[in-house]
Amino acid sequence: MFGSIAWRYDLANHILSCGFDFYWRRRAAEIVAHWRPKKIVDLATGTGDLAFAVAKKSPDAEIIGIDFSEDMLAIAHRKGLRKTILADAMRLPFADSSFDCLTIAFGLRNMEDWGAALHEMWRVLQPTGHLLILEFSLPQLSILRTLYRFYLHRCLPFLGSFLARQKNAYHYLGDSIEEFPSGVAMCRMLEANGLGAVSVEPLTGGIVTIFTAEKL
Ligand SMILES: C[S@@+](CC[C@H](N)C(=O)[O-])C[C@H]1O[C@@H](n2cnc3c(N)ncnc32)[C@H](O)[C@@H]1O
Repeated sequence: MFGSIAWRYDLANHILSCGFDFYWRRRAAEIVAHWRPKKIVDLATGTGDLAFAVAKKSPDAEIIGIDFSEDMLAIAHRKGLRKTILADAMRLPFADSSFDCLTIAFGLRNMEDWGAALHEMWRVLQPTGHLLILEFSLPQLSILRTLYRFYLHRCLPFLGSFLARQKNAYHYLGDSIEEFPSGVAMCRMLEANGLGAVSVEPLTGGIVTIFTAEKL
């Protein structure tokens, strides 16, 4: 599915989020820079936009992008991401404790087993290493949530099929956001997988959330 929308992924993102995606990734990159990481892995890197935002704010860090879609990685390469590996985030080709920072934007929600994916992230992080997850969520405020749901389920599939010629991917997007745990449920899931010092930062009325945590 991601391979089939790769060619229009960036443009569709910027249009469908009304440009807010730049701000979300920039905020994530600011948080990462504050940790002063040396070696970062960006999982589900796609076309590399989070990796580029992070590299800009943490220019001295080494950053590796991982994705299982060749088409997405080809675009990331073309845009200038130098280190990429074609791999499944559920089975990372790295030894334990390989990184002091791990980032993932709009990726965890798509994985077949969230707990197992978090456990794999925990494995490759060094003790006290940092994890940042940027993911869609549902606004807490009920009026906002109603409006957002209308946009997600009624407008997005229509706009997505026009922009990326792929209606199913954008139906899937709304459904997967509904199913993905947010807020306290997500914090519990992080803690259940050996991560502590969890923090939650909702952005843009709560339509996305940044979760950060540390390997205990
Ligand atoms: C919505 S895109 C996010 C891309 C990028 N992180 C961003 O911020 O735009 C999700 C990406 O996750 C990748 N992906 C999903 N499941 C994966 C897995 N198990 N292993 C590696 N990549 C995966 C897809 O190929 C796709 O490129």
